[in-house]
Amino acid sequence: MTCSAPIPAVIIGATGGIGAALAEALEQQGQIVLRLGRRSTPALDLLDEASIARAAAEIGPGLRLVVDATGLLHDAQLQPEKSLRQLDPAHLARSFAINATGPALLMKHFLPLLAREGRSVFATLSARVGSIGDNRLGGWVSYRASKAALNQILRTAAIEVARGRPEAICVALHPGTVETSLSSPFAKAGLEVQSPEQSAARLLAVMAALTSAQTGLFFDHHGKPIPF
Ligand SMILES: NC(=O)c1ccc[n+]([C@@H]2O[C@H](COP(=O)([O-])OP(=O)(O)OC[C@H]3O[C@@H](n4cnc5c(N)ncnc54)[C@H](OP(=O)(O)O)[C@@H]3O)[C@@H](O)[C@H]2O)c1
Repeated sequence: MTCSAPIPAVIIGATGGIGAALAEALEQQGQIVLRLGRRSTPALDLLDEASIARAAAEIGPGLRLVVDATGLLHDAQLQPEKSLRQLDPAHLARSFAINATGPALLMKHFLPLLAREGRSVFATLSARVGSIGDNRLGGWVSYRASKAALNQILRTAAIEVARGRPEAICVALHPGTVETSLSSPFAKAGLEVQSPEQSAARLLAVMAALTSAQTGLFFDHHGKPIPF
């Protein structure tokens, strides 16, 4: 980026329900947004570190806002486990690859791009079910465990970032239950289900209000801390 170019906000996973709504809401605020994903230019695939490194190199330093809105709960091969009997090593490995290792690589390549001076935010979309302290229901082992790993990776990265960028804020965020293709097969009566637009607006408000004292923590879409 040149000094005179506007600084873009970067949304990774911008084809997803929440990622797209975040990108649109930021654009409505007049922000330039770089939407990254497997089909963007440059393309970024969580399973291909070279693609992450290329995208980061192309964007360059000085960023103020990077949101990782990627994630996986189910696909054609993979359904969340209801019981330990359903545990499958391939399912565990795939969940970790997308929900933990991929975001760790995003942190490796994108956190060094945060502005050296002044406030900046890196947020990764985690999930309340990744909280160990909050786990009362069991089930969904692969998703829960991979999000718990993501939270630990985020926390560790935040400590390192704070040494060189004391005003940077790195957080894990729970978006609430949001009507997207990730959650729709698991909708339950009684749960507040938000539209992606509602969730995006709340997440942006949370990110705008965070201070550097809150780096390394996990918050819900109301800004309430969630225990790790
Ligand atoms: N929806 C909810 O109720 C809810 C609740 C709690 C937490 N969350 C979390 O919020 C985040 C966003 O969820 P969502 O509901 O918006 O899900 P979504 O609509 O399924 O979006 C998932 C995003 O992840 C991207 N992605 C998946 N695999 C990828 C890969 N290998 N490389 C690059 N990108 C990849 C998808 O890209 P493609 O379009 O290329 O597949 C898509 O942009 C996730 O971390 C999820 O766990 C959601």
